[in-house]
Amino acid sequence: MRKKVIFIGAGGYAKSALDSLDSDVYQLCGFIDNIKPIHSLHLGYPIVADSIENFLPYQDYEYFISIGNNIHRYDKFRKLQDLNCKIISIIDKTALVSIHAEIGIGTFIGKMAIVNSGAKIGNNVIINTRALIEHGCQIQNHCNISTNTTLNGDVLVKDFCFIGSSSVVNGQLHIGQHSVIGAGAVVIKNVEPHTIVAGVPAKFIKENK
Ligand SMILES: CC(C)(COP(=O)(O)OP(=O)(O)OC[C@H]1O[C@@H](n2cnc3c(N)ncnc32)[C@H](O)[C@@H]1OP(=O)(O)O)[C@@H](O)C(=O)NCCC(=O)NCCS
Repeated sequence: MRKKVIFIGAGGYAKSALDSLDSDVYQLCGFIDNIKPIHSLHLGYPIVADSIENFLPYQDYEYFISIGNNIHRYDKFRKLQDLNCKIISIIDKTALVSIHAEIGIGTFIGKMAIVNSGAKIGNNVIINTRALIEHGCQIQNHCNISTNTTLNGDVLVKDFCFIGSSSVVNGQLHIGQHSVIGAGAVVIKNVEPHTIVAGVPAKFIKENK
C-alpha cells in the first residue's frame, strides 16, 4: 500500500515537488494551505486544512513542506517536528545522487540535479533543477539552492542561505548563514553571514536583515 502524504504549501514549488514525488511509493492526499480556500482543489488535490493544528487526523499522514521561502519552510518544519510527524524527502528520479552523499529529512532534490560524493545536505533544503553540488560540499539546514547553480568542491553553505539561479561558488568557500547570492553571481571569496552579494565577481550589495 502506498504511503499517504500531505503537502504543506499549495504554491508554485508544490508543482515541482508533486512532479518529482515517487507515485509508486507515495499517494498525495491533499494540501494544507492558509491562502487557498478549504475544500478547493490545487493541482487536482483538495486543500484539507489551513494549518496542521486544524488538521485533526494529522497522525495518519506523512508530510512534505512545499514552501520555497526558507523562513516559512522552517516554521512548518519545526511545527511538524514538535508534533512528531514524519517528514519525507523527495528526490526526482532524474537526479544523480552519489551513494557517498548524505541527504537530510524534508529535503527536495529536483530534476537533473547532481549531488556528488561526500556532499552532506541538511534538513529541509531545496536543491533545485540542474543544480550541481560538487564533492565534499556541506549545505546546512533550511537553505534554497536555485536552478542551475554550481557549488564547486568543499563549499560550506550555512543555515538559511538562498543561492540564486545559475550562480557559481568557487571551491572551499564559506557562505555565512542567512546570506543571499544573486542570480548569475560568481562568488570568489567567503560571504559573511546576513549579507546579499551579486555580480561577477560577486560583491556586497546590502545586509540581509
Ligand atoms: C540579489 C537579489 C536577491 C537582490 O534583490 P533586491 O534586494 O530586491 O535588490 P535590488 O533589485 O534592489 O538591487 C540592488 C542592486 O543590486 C543589483 N543587482 C540585483 N540583483 C543582481 C544580480 N543578480 N546580479 C547583479 N546585480 C544585481 C541591482 O542592479 C541594484 O544595483 P544598483 O543599486 O546599482 O541599482 C535579486 O536580484 C536576485 O538575484 N535574486 C535571485 C533570484 C533567483 O535566482 N531566483 C531563483 C528562483 S528558482
